[in-house]
Amino acid sequence: MHTPEKLLLENKAWSQEMGAKDPEFFKKLAIEQYPKFLWIGCSDSRVPAETVVNAHPGDIFVHRNIANQVLNTDFNCLSVVQYAINVLAVKHIIVCGHYGCGGVKAALQRQQSNLLVTNKWLMHIKDVYRLHQDELEALEPEKRLSRLIEFNTIEQVQRLAYTSIIQSAWKNGQKITLHGWVYGLEDGLITELIKVEDASSIPTIYQYTDDL
Ligand code: CO
Repeated sequence: MHTPEKLLLENKAWSQEMGAKDPEFFKKLAIEQYPKFLWIGCSDSRVPAETVVNAHPGDIFVHRNIANQVLNTDFNCLSVVQYAINVLAVKHIIVCGHYGCGGVKAALQRQQSNLLVTNKWLMHIKDVYRLHQDELEALEPEKRLSRLIEFNTIEQVQRLAYTSIIQSAWKNGQKITLHGWVYGLEDGLITELIKVEDASSIPTIYQYTDDL
């Protein structure tokens, strides 16, 4: 996969193959999408959402960014979440982190002066580090990275639960489960870290006072 021309050739081959397997495949997908899942993952090329869970086009609505973060000032991610909940009515949101994440690893180090914008994005992971600093600093360096990757994934699930989008949907009786998963680069396996099905675990300061 070294050239864009090769990618386009592969695309032609893939299209023909899919069409041969099921002549209705593209016709059905062209009408509408009914994904049951929203996947929020890392941009890392080694963790392609559909591939690692053996899914097909139409199965998963996807948002990816460096270190799979859900930030309240990121209208890109928040619009994806709002559309997934309010229009597509997905039943599950999966935040999938992965061991060996370069974004989390970079956040554990001093900031690189040639990455001024990226640093701002990674700053939020340093905050997650600070939240769990004592536990993390008691660990060996390799374990520290893996544990921060897990904490970071869990944090993003909690941040999702703190959004008005999710709290409002729950309040209106929409059944949505938030999942925090971590993917292993070395074995291709996913482990569940956290599952949140309702607002009961949301601390008071993150709850809304008014009707949403
Ligand atoms: Co990553």
